[in-house]
Amino acid sequence: MLRLFAALVIVGLLLACFTSWLVDSYDTAWHPKRSLHQSRKTGPPNPSGQLDNIFWFVQVSDIHISRFHDPKRIPDFERFCRDTIDVIKPDLVLATGDLTDAKTESKLGSLQHEVEWQAYHNVLKRSRVLERTKWIDIRGNHDAFNIISLESVNNYYRKYSANQKVGSFHYIHRTPFGNYSFICADATLTPGPKRPYNFFGIINQTQMDMLATFREESLSSNKSIWFGHYTTSTVISPFPGIRELMSTAVAYLCGHLHTLGGFMPVLHSRHQGGTLELELGDWMENRRYRILAFDHDLFSFTDLTFEDWPAVLITNPKDAQYLHPGVEPLGRIRSSTHIRCLCVFLHPPHRPLHTGTKMKPGHRVMVKN
Ligand SMILES: *[C@@H]1O[C@H](CO)[C@@H](O)[C@H](O)[C@H]1NC(C)=O
Ligand SMILES: *[C@@H]1O[C@H](CO)[C@@H](O)[C@H](O)[C@H]1NC(C)=O
Ligand SMILES: *[C@@H]1O[C@H](CO)[C@@H](O)[C@H](O)[C@H]1NC(C)=O
Ligand SMILES: [Zn+2]
Repeated sequence: MLRLFAALVIVGLLLACFTSWLVDSYDTAWHPKRSLHQSRKTGPPNPSGQLDNIFWFVQVSDIHISRFHDPKRIPDFERFCRDTIDVIKPDLVLATGDLTDAKTESKLGSLQHEVEWQAYHNVLKRSRVLERTKWIDIRGNHDAFNIISLESVNNYYRKYSANQKVGSFHYIHRTPFGNYSFICADATLTPGPKRPYNFFGIINQTQMDMLATFREESLSSNKSIWFGHYTTSTVISPFPGIRELMSTAVAYLCGHLHTLGGFMPVLHSRHQGGTLELELGDWMENRRYRILAFDHDLFSFTDLTFEDWPAVLITNPKDAQYLHPGVEPLGRIRSSTHIRCLCVFLHPPHRPLHTGTKMKPGHRVMVKN
């Protein structure tokens, strides 16, 4: 009895250490540990009253399409793909892994279920979301459970996802006012072990070298975003480490930890080099999603809950907590003439929020200072 108690205490202490180590770093304050090598270029264009030099995108994570649990998860996700994406009109959507649940009915074991992948695929098809936006879906640890090799017949990601690209890649979003790099760091394991042996991801030397070439390429883009399924605290990578590789990015977007069982509804942090690490809560239980924007190369985002309208993102002046003086042209905030925000309504509000501004579904407002 006493021995059992001692064992429980030790497990408890270990858990406490792990959580404090995981959570301890969740702080977004700017503490530069080195000089800013990038110049703070702050010439024009400056934010004004025109809807220009801006694009926005969406992230959703840990969807966990399941054949056994929460029958509303799939129809809600279909409404998200059809209605929410239709009113927000993002240039692209990042679905950062755990597209399917891949668990046995008891939740204890793991298994790839073709029906879950078919359900995911059918949502994409029926909602016609792929015709409306660029949909980039990547694998999470659940999507890699029990897969012996990438050629395995049960690697359904290759058959049913929109992206079907295994491994890291560099996607450049081109607009008339600039080019924006999106670099995916894929740390999922191949072969994929069963549950619970892939809580941590691995990036080996070959993959590090590839990511280093993407980083070089991204230097000619206006701004870069990195994304992946795992938080950097759950990725094992060789020297100098994955955080160092992404230090030229304004932010790293990920999922994986959900909301730590409800204990940590917001998991935002900042690396030593200044890069923001923005974990997004799960779709699975919390129906979270995020809208992000680059407005005159200033980065902003807001974490939202499905069908909680209106969705509002202030893009200028952006939230001071998330300034990145190393890579953002912050002087433009001072030279700007307008407060700018993205306000998305599903239905016109009863009273316009700003006199003289007519609200239509999906309407975007510019408010003068
Ligand atoms: C993007 O970079 C190009 C080349 O440096 C520059 O001319 C352009 O103004 C930048 N776009 C924005 C929105 O700052
Ligand atoms: C974006 O990249 C293309 C191809 O590399 C280049 O021709 C174009 O000038 C770039 N656009 C901007 C605004 O920098
Ligand atoms: C690194 O990982 C990739 C993809 O998982 C694999 O194809 C490659 O063989 C690995 N390389 C080494 C040196 O282990
Ligand atoms: Zn997950």
